[in-house]
Amino acid sequence: MKHYRIVLLKGDGIGPEIVAQAAFVLKKAGERFGFGVEFDEALLGGSAIDAAGSPIPRETVDKCRAADSTLLGAVGGPKWDGLPGDQRPEAGLLGIRRALGLYANLRPSMIFPQLRAASPLKDSVIGNRLNVMIVRELTGGIYFGERGHRTVDGADAAYDTEMYSVPEIERIARVGFETARKRGGKLCSVDKANVLESSRLWRKTVARVGKEEYPDVELSNLYVDNCSMQLVRDPKQFDVIVTSNMFGDILSDEASMISGSIGMLPSASLGAGKAGLYEPVHGSAPDIAGTGTANPLATILSAAMMLRNSLGQPQAARAVEDAVSAALETARTPDIWTPGTKKVGCVEMGEIVRSLL
Ligand code: NAD
Ligand code: IPM
Ligand code: MN
Repeated sequence: MKHYRIVLLKGDGIGPEIVAQAAFVLKKAGERFGFGVEFDEALLGGSAIDAAGSPIPRETVDKCRAADSTLLGAVGGPKWDGLPGDQRPEAGLLGIRRALGLYANLRPSMIFPQLRAASPLKDSVIGNRLNVMIVRELTGGIYFGERGHRTVDGADAAYDTEMYSVPEIERIARVGFETARKRGGKLCSVDKANVLESSRLWRKTVARVGKEEYPDVELSNLYVDNCSMQLVRDPKQFDVIVTSNMFGDILSDEASMISGSIGMLPSASLGAGKAGLYEPVHGSAPDIAGTGTANPLATILSAAMMLRNSLGQPQAARAVEDAVSAALETARTPDIWTPGTKKVGCVEMGEIVRSLL
């Protein structure tokens, strides 16, 4: 029997609650589909600062490197907001993405038919099928560029730098084109090329990669401001979107809401190796942490992405997604609750998914 070693980075806020439910689901998927899952925990973010004095202890990176895959909850919270940037919980998250070379973040936004009433968009806007994949560059751009303070006209000033090299753009563009090829054959590259030099290089490079390597994929370009408007005006027009680290961060929160709640949106962070890191798109939700009401489905769906992309268990992945869909027929956490459905908490939602698996 195949055995997988999975590292759990529970993190902060609702992180431990949602990861626990996703881990149970992975275990159950193994029982049903004939593979074993062994979990190991490691510290990341605020809890790592408190326990080990660093948002990303060395041991965490070593454990993730040795594992078959990693599942992350979320990091951050008001307790650590006053720390300098490079010591914050979020620096741990950026650090692990960088250390593992996870340059491509796949954020699929789709709407389960049962959740239509939970989406703020009208039925006529959503249509029959909504399925947008955002491919976000994850280890470059303004998140990792030079930053600091200097004095301007006698006053303190701070700066961050957006920079992309041609190889960085080429590799994320290829992920975008490959993803589009396996889906609807359409790729929209999103930038701010009317203003930013880095975006002009981005657009030129994506166009060349498309022309040379993916003539079968239909490539279009949008400025990010227009894209954010188009996502709520007519989200059906999109198949795959490829964009920079910061634009992808912002657009994916927007796209998540179309699906009813950010508590539904999973993601896969992938690099050259097979292992990857799987993380919900949302954060540690300090406002509801400890109340038992967090929606675990984004994390459970992230575990499904892990089964498919890193563990080579597509049937198990499908079964988990089907169990989530079946659970939504009756049970809802408060973020996606609509009249006529049963309101449940995080643990109960996890149990229902498991019982349907
Ligand atoms: P957030 O995503 O944590 O929360 C935004 C809103 O969505 C809140 O009202 C929250 O209650 C709700 N929400 C989020 N996830 C939910 C879930 N699973 N179920 C139900 N409701 C959910 O964003 P924020 O409040 O801007 O950030 C809080 C902290 O999380 C910050 O420290 C931020 O840096 C961090 N953060 C971490 C990650 C990550 O670790 N991947 C991602 C985003 C934000
Ligand atoms: C996300 C988060 C992170 C990001 C933060 C917490 C560093 O918002 O994963 O979307 O901006 O990448
Ligand atoms: Mn984000």
